[in-house]
Amino acid sequence: MRQKYIVGNWKMNQSVSSLSSFFENLSIDETTCETWVSPQAMHIPRVLDAAQNIKKNFQVGAQNICEFDNGAYTGENSAESLKDLGATFTLIGHSERRHIFKEDHALLNRKIKHALKHDLTVIFCIGEQLEERKNGMTEAVLKYQLQEGLKDFPADKSLREKLIIAYEPVWAIGTGEVASPEQAQEAHHFIRKFITSDLDFQGDTVPLLYGGSVKPANAEGLLGQEDIDGALVGGASLKGEDFSALAQTASK
Ligand code: PGA
Repeated sequence: MRQKYIVGNWKMNQSVSSLSSFFENLSIDETTCETWVSPQAMHIPRVLDAAQNIKKNFQVGAQNICEFDNGAYTGENSAESLKDLGATFTLIGHSERRHIFKEDHALLNRKIKHALKHDLTVIFCIGEQLEERKNGMTEAVLKYQLQEGLKDFPADKSLREKLIIAYEPVWAIGTGEVASPEQAQEAHHFIRKFITSDLDFQGDTVPLLYGGSVKPANAEGLLGQEDIDGALVGGASLKGEDFSALAQTASK
């Protein structure tokens, strides 16, 4: 059985005081899934500090990295510095990066390779928009995002093991409208098949996470699907008690 994951994407949320309350209400010592969070970069040391007593399976990552090593790139965060702070993974290609910050396929492909160079696990996010789903284009969109984003991904097995894919239908992110377990399973199954047959990954070992309005009340149905190995969670990951409930569901 593949390992399960609950990954919190805190986006541009969590203040110093809400972080303390997150940890006060966190109870994940008995859970067996991986529990990861990606705070705003400047909070990484604070989060690691607060997480010191967590026994296992807790990691902290970034929401984005700069594609360059270092130098005159005002306002960016380097993979090297994030790694120095204690980040072990980074999201790449979140729909907010694609749509608000206009990050294109080629840039995301460069960022993925750059993250690997710095030994960061990559959670590569893909997903269709509502119009695309309505027009029956979901699989074509996912295929294109995978082909372009993972183009020339190094063949090295240890690097291939650093890839996690998050399927996040754009219409379900932050909207409260969650994909049904069947819709999500269908997309995950397609992704697993495609990365195996066309991109030469050992698809049955790549963790595939679902993201988009996951909360304690709907997690069980999603996480029970054969090809869903966990969840990338925005809103419901901000409160310690909800995050803990999700981790407990993923550990069943
Ligand atoms: P949401 O966000 O859980 O608030 O829908 C998910 C995400 O953006 O990763």
